[in-house]
Amino acid sequence: MKTVGVFDSGVGGLSVLRALLTELPGVRFVYVADSAYAPYGERTVSEITDRSERITAWLRHTHHIDALVVACNTATALAIDSLRATHPELPIVGVEPALKPAAAMSHTRHIGVLATRGTLNSERFARLRSQLESAASSPVHFICQPCDGLADAIERDDLQTQQTLCARYVVALREHAPGDMDTVVLGCTHYPFAADVLAQLLGPNVTLVDTGIAVARRTRDVLGMSIETVTHATPPLLLSTGDPEKLSQAASRWLGLRTRADQLVA
Ligand code: DGL
Repeated sequence: MKTVGVFDSGVGGLSVLRALLTELPGVRFVYVADSAYAPYGERTVSEITDRSERITAWLRHTHHIDALVVACNTATALAIDSLRATHPELPIVGVEPALKPAAAMSHTRHIGVLATRGTLNSERFARLRSQLESAASSPVHFICQPCDGLADAIERDDLQTQQTLCARYVVALREHAPGDMDTVVLGCTHYPFAADVLAQLLGPNVTLVDTGIAVARRTRDVLGMSIETVTHATPPLLLSTGDPEKLSQAASRWLGLRTRADQLVA
């Protein structure tokens, strides 16, 4: 059986784990929520690189992982190149805001992007954005909104703050959109857990896009696996550098998992 390590700054990567469990039911997943250091979105590049490196080293040493999924847009944007350089033989799959799929589906060509400040300020994001905005055929316009505090509110399961911040950021998106926006990219793995609130605020004419399934399929390709039919999925191992009880609750609420999370010191 293959073992795949998955990590995020906290509970957000559970949105990617949900897709991984659906697409790769025969794989054993070890999920690390780095909640003691969340949110990553407003941290420095060296802090995020250091945390990503420590978690990856622990996953390799303790669980001998066959592949790693960086289930965090911010860590992908700021640390994946360094991880790949340190672990050249380990297949590593990252998560990037779904700008390409959004560009492929938008009719109005005005697309909102909600992400952390770290992701939006990264060179990796700037490259992806400019490729699509300068495309000769059918260019798109991205309206990018940093969502300070939103991942943290989701991490703390603070519904009131989630509602207030989502309302503020949707107003800001609309103010800055030069035309009708028909697509909004959820560029942080925490945000699918606020999708209902965002959908309500944005209305029925806006499609929300996230990357969970695409990342899971990419992971399957990287492992060289075909679509599996497995009667009993292997329950994932859940670990948190913060409060494991919070991770257990989030995994139960959003993924229906009964697995109890353990404490990780890394
Ligand atoms: N879930 C992460 C992301 O996709 C990080 C959010 C945060 O910790 O700020 O960007």
